[in-house]
Amino acid sequence: MEDHFDHSFELDATLERRGKLELLAVSRGVSALAKISYVRQKEPLGLGHAVLCAKDLVGDEPFAVILPDDVIDAKVPCLKQMIKIFDQKGGSVLATQTVEGPSISLYGVLSGSQDQDNPRIYNCTGMVEKPKFEDAPSKQAIIGRYVLTPRVFELLEQTTPGAGGEIQLTDGILALVKEEKVFGYTFEGKRFDAGDKFGMLQATVEFALKRSDLGPQFRAYLKGLAL
Ligand code: G1P
Repeated sequence: MEDHFDHSFELDATLERRGKLELLAVSRGVSALAKISYVRQKEPLGLGHAVLCAKDLVGDEPFAVILPDDVIDAKVPCLKQMIKIFDQKGGSVLATQTVEGPSISLYGVLSGSQDQDNPRIYNCTGMVEKPKFEDAPSKQAIIGRYVLTPRVFELLEQTTPGAGGEIQLTDGILALVKEEKVFGYTFEGKRFDAGDKFGMLQATVEFALKRSDLGPQFRAYLKGLAL
């Protein structure tokens, strides 16, 4: 990631020498996209531990967590929707989706109740990481977008390993629920699980079809397959 968003001096010099100016502009554009700071998680101790590694970088302000294997296609970006709810309700917000059946045990699952005013909002009273199907407290699964208050860092420091022997973000947020308001939010948009081979394929096909440059050609190609 660090290399991808950095200047590629050798590549840029080669493209310049060969007069490939369009490609040179693409390569330079990537490094100009954003100012990024990095922190490395030195040991794979769990998602909660990974988030905790960013404590000093984030400081004492609300922050967002994005799990990039959850790819979301939405008219209004999912995080933008969530920040609006954070501002309205004054509490941390977790993206959620209703999951039917046994696959609920692949997720963090909320307990609580639907908000009276906004059916997309769920007032959290608890949560559990990857419960057995029969133990799941609801069908409200956490999807990989979070807007959190910085208090969760201190709570993560006290969080001991949970499901899978890992320090779970879900357990840190469960501690937060006991002190502050926390909400689930059923975002508007479509989510792909790109951490799964089939989900990755679905995301690739659907995003390719939506592109103005490749979409028409790709659609024609798919239609021509003897399926
Ligand atoms: C993580 C979280 C889990 C959440 C899921 C969403 O699990 O621990 O609470 O529901 O992301 O994708 P992972 O998929 O990394 O096992």
